[in-house]
Amino acid sequence: MTDASQPILRINALTKRFDDFTALHGVDLNVAEGEFLAIVGPSGSGKTTLIRILVGMDELSDGAVWLRNTRIDVVPANKRPTCMVFQSLALFPHRTVGQNIEFPLKLRKVPPAERKARALELLDTLRLPRDYYDKRIQQCSGGEKQRVALARALAFDPEILFFDEPLSALDYRLRKTLEKELKDLHRRTGKTFIYITHSLEEAMVMSDRIAIMKAGRFEQIAPAEEIYARPVSKFVAEFMGEVNFFDLRNGQAEGLLMTPETAAALAGRSGTLTIRPESLRTLPEGQAADLTFEGEIVAEYLLGSRMQYRMMLATGQEMIVEVLRENGVAGGIGAALRVGCDLSAAHLIEEARDAAA
Ligand SMILES: Nc1ncnc2c1ncn2[C@@H]1O[C@H](COP(=O)(O)OP(=O)(O)OP(=O)(O)O)[C@@H](O)[C@H]1O
Ligand SMILES: [Mg+2]
Repeated sequence: MTDASQPILRINALTKRFDDFTALHGVDLNVAEGEFLAIVGPSGSGKTTLIRILVGMDELSDGAVWLRNTRIDVVPANKRPTCMVFQSLALFPHRTVGQNIEFPLKLRKVPPAERKARALELLDTLRLPRDYYDKRIQQCSGGEKQRVALARALAFDPEILFFDEPLSALDYRLRKTLEKELKDLHRRTGKTFIYITHSLEEAMVMSDRIAIMKAGRFEQIAPAEEIYARPVSKFVAEFMGEVNFFDLRNGQAEGLLMTPETAAALAGRSGTLTIRPESLRTLPEGQAADLTFEGEIVAEYLLGSRMQYRMMLATGQEMIVEVLRENGVAGGIGAALRVGCDLSAAHLIEEARDAAA
């Protein structure tokens, strides 16, 4: 029986040690049925180690992993048909597309006619023409191979599909196409996807939630918008793109002009005030925002429809500002710039939270 409110996967205080090095420090994670969870984090933070343990390629040192009501960390990998890592490189190059897709079904002794029917269905699912069934893997393009590998992963009919940077070797355009296809595939199959990527953009396009990993711990697990708008630490804020930080001490920060209302709202508070470059707007002479900054343009870049400025404040701090091109200022490098934002667009990472992270 499946209970929709019950997570499909529960990771409990999972620790992984390699000799005297601890790669995972007692991590907890619940994944909902049908969720698309992205795991992102710098190189060496423990993403692959975690997935290897979940699929049974490696053993944990401490903790437990549950698939619904079954504890799976004690079950050998070959007895865990529920988990599958998606690897395009593991296709059989000399065999046909059909043979590759049917491989897991053959292992399960599914009769040939039924296997073929299922393989053709999977070609449809992956939007590959049915006549690819007899094509050899060597005759497929990179993107087609990727799709065949996905079809084969689906033929295993796993409860959870794991992906470890499946698109990292592909060129930009193909990656963009497959990102959308993967998201679409997720929606159509209703399967649970756990997806490791270095690319935050990829994580944001595809996932329901993002788990940010740092040095063997989850720093924050939340939907992309929340991580972006309310990062729990400077690490997360920086990971999510360009950001400006202001050190707030007892409601005061150097280089920051506040309205009396803003000053009252921030009174007595300390931490790191984070402001995204695109939350800022240019201010006409004499106009002030909740938070106002004044400085001089030290660099400017045209980013398609947007302008990015690097501005030097009187305090010597550099700030990144991004506005729509038509709201940009004339004058170029050396010109004065006044920008501001609403207090609601600024996020305060409270002192204690960040120190603990
Ligand atoms: N078999 C092993 N023996 C010893 N240390 C290991 C082993 N496997 C991984 N590690 C260490 O554990 C840490 C986490 O490695 P892991 O491969 O999980 O990182 P990752 O987040 O996947 O990185 P990347 O983004 O580069 O793939 C690294 O410091 C790595 O050196
Ligand atoms: Mg890795």
